[in-house]
Amino acid sequence: MTIPDRLLMGPGPSNVPPEVLQALAKPITGHLDPSFLTLLDEVADRLRAVFATDNRMTFAVSGTGSAGMEAALVNLLEPGDEAIVCVNGAFGGRMAEIASRAGATVVRVETEWGEVIDPDALRAALDAHPGTKVVAAVHAETSTGAAQPIADVAPHVREHGVLFVVDAVTSLGGIPVAVDEWGIDVCYSGTQKCLSVPPGLAPITFSEAALDAVRRRKTPVQSWYLDVTLLEKYWGADRVYHHTAPISMLTALHAGLGLVCEEGLHARWLRHAELGARLAKELEARRFDYVAAEGHRLPMLHCVRVPDGLDEASGRKRLLSDFGIEVGGGLGPFAGTCWRIGLMGYTCTERNVLTFLAALDDVLAA
Ligand SMILES: Cc1ncc(COP(=O)(O)O)c(C=O)c1O
Repeated sequence: MTIPDRLLMGPGPSNVPPEVLQALAKPITGHLDPSFLTLLDEVADRLRAVFATDNRMTFAVSGTGSAGMEAALVNLLEPGDEAIVCVNGAFGGRMAEIASRAGATVVRVETEWGEVIDPDALRAALDAHPGTKVVAAVHAETSTGAAQPIADVAPHVREHGVLFVVDAVTSLGGIPVAVDEWGIDVCYSGTQKCLSVPPGLAPITFSEAALDAVRRRKTPVQSWYLDVTLLEKYWGADRVYHHTAPISMLTALHAGLGLVCEEGLHARWLRHAELGARLAKELEARRFDYVAAEGHRLPMLHCVRVPDGLDEASGRKRLLSDFGIEVGGGLGPFAGTCWRIGLMGYTCTERNVLTFLAALDDVLAA
């Protein structure tokens, strides 16, 4: 079967650099091989740097971003707990669903898709629900392109002494994420967005307060596979077998994080900011309207209403069939009217922006 070589400008996965593809082709070792254990330690160190945390329990969950979301919530929540979930798009909704399946009573602090959660609304919910154990929020809402200012809501969570879970699936490696500075207790991501590693792992970090809360549970974590108290015996000094680690994916993540660290986080954030702004200017000039308000737009994910006269689905199809460029369609209320254009990690280059614009102009002219 021939696999097409696409320019991946959708909501993820992003294109993968050759160094990472080569890492995937390296020989397999055992998951307890001394060289692989060294690689695991380096992956954890590199993740600490990228998450900006000193958390000991920083590792990669075997599974995509949703497995990270599930790991965060099922470890912290058990039946009878109360959780506040900020919902302003599809992924906040998914967090609320998982929290509820974990047996928690879920209070949703909601706003329109495309808007961000008002810190005062969160504070009011915390005041109204003093028994809350966890607050959960999405940093970069990939369904709307809105950036939630985590630093603005974090003080309210901290003041109420509540555990704070943040989804950084789309943000990590593209905009600043400061786990320790913002007081986040569990933060998770995915490999296939701004880290530009194939989908399949969910980087995650747990604070000591989060780990204490897991140890104080009345009931065992309902998921054996995602139980952090078991996983820490493999990722920590004990090196006790839990499940067979996905060797090749971890080798790829090691290489991908190496490239992130080599570029430097600040340089990487600047690259996303500059090229994101450039793309935004060009899209607006072509009458694409942003769903998210100015000042709350993500540089790596542009959720835009397609202009009158352009058929959303057939325009997207032409970009793929004629130019090999993938962009995403809208989710939920934006299905059929919006595109989600990604500029993530290795995909985020001037050449790709210009290639996309040339193809887009051809589609618009037709
Ligand atoms: C913000 C956010 N959270 C969670 C997920 C789920 O990740 P995955 O599809 O890798 O399971 C995604 C995927 O797009 C996402 O954008």
